[in-house]
Amino acid sequence: MLNFSRRGSQPRNPRSMPLGGMDYVDPKRKGNFVGKVFLAATLTALCILMIKQSPTLNSPSRFSLHEPGVTHVLVTGGAGYIGSHAALRLLKDSYRVTIVDNLSRGNLGAIRVLQELFPEPGRLQFIYADLGDAKSVNKIFLENKFDAVMHFAAVAYVGESTLDPLKNHLVHYPLHLGIQDLFILASKMLGVILPRTELQNKRYYHNITSNTLLILESMAKYGVKTLIYSSTCATYGEPERMPITEETPQVPINPYGKAKKMSEDIILDFSKNSDMAIMILRYFNVIGSDPEGRLGEAPRPELREHGRISGACFDAARGIIPGLKVKGTDYKTSDGTCIRDYIDVTDLVDAHVKALEKAEPRNVGIYNVGTGKGRSVKEFVDACKKATGVDIKVDYLPRRPGDYAEVFSDPTKIRLELNWTARYTDLQESLQIAWRWQKSHRDGYGTSSSAIF
Ligand SMILES: NC(=O)c1ccc[n+]([C@@H]2O[C@H](COP(=O)([O-])OP(=O)(O)OC[C@H]3O[C@@H](n4cnc5c(N)ncnc54)[C@H](O)[C@@H]3O)[C@@H](O)[C@H]2O)c1
Repeated sequence: MLNFSRRGSQPRNPRSMPLGGMDYVDPKRKGNFVGKVFLAATLTALCILMIKQSPTLNSPSRFSLHEPGVTHVLVTGGAGYIGSHAALRLLKDSYRVTIVDNLSRGNLGAIRVLQELFPEPGRLQFIYADLGDAKSVNKIFLENKFDAVMHFAAVAYVGESTLDPLKNHLVHYPLHLGIQDLFILASKMLGVILPRTELQNKRYYHNITSNTLLILESMAKYGVKTLIYSSTCATYGEPERMPITEETPQVPINPYGKAKKMSEDIILDFSKNSDMAIMILRYFNVIGSDPEGRLGEAPRPELREHGRISGACFDAARGIIPGLKVKGTDYKTSDGTCIRDYIDVTDLVDAHVKALEKAEPRNVGIYNVGTGKGRSVKEFVDACKKATGVDIKVDYLPRRPGDYAEVFSDPTKIRLELNWTARYTDLQESLQIAWRWQKSHRDGYGTSSSAIF
């Protein structure tokens, strides 16, 4: 587990060693003997440097104390697309934020943006950790005093979940910005090149269901009172009737939807004997990005094939892929293509803040988060062409097995109970905002996030 935060604002405990704006905390990875010796040498060197640099070695961490009037939110997956936007909104609204992410899919560049916007002590800390590691999770809850958890972290691609629901991969991660900084510095000091890191990335049922259980157990153990859980319309499967209400039976048809439904079930069972305030938000298709252009969506290139329609449109507009393939033109819809409900990320994070404000002890609120309006794929593609100004080539192909014709939400419940309604409902405008970020970030959050070896 690595903890990166800004100098002078962060925990100074015996196991947390600040270095030039970064804290390094107890890695949980097991290495071979040489690796361990190397790590020990690295840590010693970093420790010496830290002692030289830090005048505030023994000051207590603001993140480890409950402070009257300050709500401290743990944002899991806060380096990812939705989590980073949620963290930005929370910070803007004066919440204290701790982000935990293993950077398997998120971007340290997004954390950097947030740190630059909110450099003040006690506002934001980033902890690099895997939520599948029970010891790390326990340590995070032991050392920090959270008032609430927004649990976004997950692997979240339907197609990928179908291909590979159970397998435990050993994946090779390129080192990312920040971590790179640390390792580059260490390697420079020691005059050696460090090996690539290996982390275990456990797939859908582990990553979604087991990790949610771990979070829940730690929340219960350490008395964290509020949970906002990221769920999905994929838990409904193929409902017979539209629009989808919260009462629509949940019959998920892919491992992603099933893993999320299982997490919901665990949370609901747990809630029966708990005082915790819980909100489960089931999102529809999320699009858009920060209207002020500070954050965007930057998935790993290797996930492109499983990607979402907006990503595919932008890739086509940039010439990364030759064009778009729209599958199915003979559905019983207005123009024959599938219908989906696209919710702008700005509206989505607004729903989270409202859910946080309205969460009540011993109560579970379950809400659809969508616009309530279905848009056809054809409409989406037209909006994307206008937003990007590129005449994207579109091939119309036969239906893809497993796709359902129409999915859209009934957002009445969230409107009535949380006073939330989607405001960014102009597809073209949402896509234009996202496109602006995409155009100015051709390499996502930066080439410096690629491997150094
Ligand atoms: N994007 C959508 O359209 C959509 C729709 C419905 C629900 N959701 C849900 O919203 C949440 C966020 O989705 P997103 O689109 O931002 O995805 P994302 O991949 O951009 O972000 C997920 C983040 O979680 C991190 N993560 C994954 N496993 C982790 C682990 N074991 N430990 C620590 N960090 C880990 C990743 O590194 C990444 O930063 C997910 O729970 C997803 O299921 C998303």
